[in-house]
Amino acid sequence: MPDTLISSPLQGFTDYRFRNAFHKYFGGIDTYYAPYIRLNGKMEIKPVYQRDLMHKHNIGLVVIPQVMTCDADEFLFVIDYVQSLGYTELNWNLGCPYPMVTNRGMGSGLIANPEKINHILDRAHSETNITISMKMRMGYYDPTEILDAFPVLNKYPLKNIGIHARIGKQLYVGGVDWDSFERCMEHTDHKLYYNGDITSVKAFRKVSDRFPTIDHWMIGRGLIADPWLPIMIKENDTEYPIDRIDVFSDFHAMLFRQFEEKLTGDKAIIRKMVSYWEYFEEVLPQAKREIKKLKKTKTIEAYDEALEKVYSVFE
Ligand SMILES: Cc1cc2nc3c(=O)[nH]c(=O)nc-3n(C[C@H](O)[C@H](O)[C@H](O)COP(=O)(O)O)c2cc1C
Repeated sequence: MPDTLISSPLQGFTDYRFRNAFHKYFGGIDTYYAPYIRLNGKMEIKPVYQRDLMHKHNIGLVVIPQVMTCDADEFLFVIDYVQSLGYTELNWNLGCPYPMVTNRGMGSGLIANPEKINHILDRAHSETNITISMKMRMGYYDPTEILDAFPVLNKYPLKNIGIHARIGKQLYVGGVDWDSFERCMEHTDHKLYYNGDITSVKAFRKVSDRFPTIDHWMIGRGLIADPWLPIMIKENDTEYPIDRIDVFSDFHAMLFRQFEEKLTGDKAIIRKMVSYWEYFEEVLPQAKREIKKLKKTKTIEAYDEALEKVYSVFE
């Protein structure tokens, strides 16, 4: 079976603007999970989520919407909304590690609550015909928490469970826990997707050697830090194309243009782009000094000048 590569969502980064630019210039991703929809008690979908999922913003992309909630009514409301847009699958986020979320019993804070998971899945399956997939960490405090959730999850026809092989308490500190991921494989009937620290072709080879039966891989930060990664994994290649700076420059220009249309004021646009540069700088280490200067710019004019200097390192 060929490997399927999935863009693991990053709220604030992998919105439709990024997805379109990425797909046009790099590719290699089969499916994009959209960043989560969160309602916060109000039964309304914020315009930012609406825009992200509109058909006209996702032409040619396979996109799966995601929700983060611990409330069955909210879950059903979001199902209704995404179905009204024509989506047939909803991904449920039980992975978010941030205390603001987990203290409210959401994200990875919900993993240790199988009764609630059961209640929500029961209502979703008895009251709707949507396909549900899960995205989880292995627990909040302990990677065995997920094992108690599996008997509940096994009752439902979930499409798959994507597992980020960490626990919530870790946030992003420390390594991924492959032994615990392996234990998950032994304890569920569901198809598992692997997620966590796929940052290079070498890292991909290592994890796919360890888990030869896994054929769906979710890539989050690595996709932004090295947009060539998915296509290089697919082609089993470790060489970057010779025109890589030209391609990157066109990609950057498309991303920039879209944020220029959306945001008001040089500072807001630069702030947004700089958040991406925190990742991009990893694939352009030769221009570290120039990127540092670019990140300090305050006007678009200065940003453009600094950007030219970044590119000139590769001439
Ligand atoms: C800034 C940021 C935002 C994220 N937003 C989401 C999100 O909206 N939904 C989700 O399921 N995971 C989210 N994640 C988690 C990633 O999708 C992914 O599971 C995690 O980064 C581990 O994969 P990686 O090592 O390939 O990055 C986010 C992660 C980061 C760093």
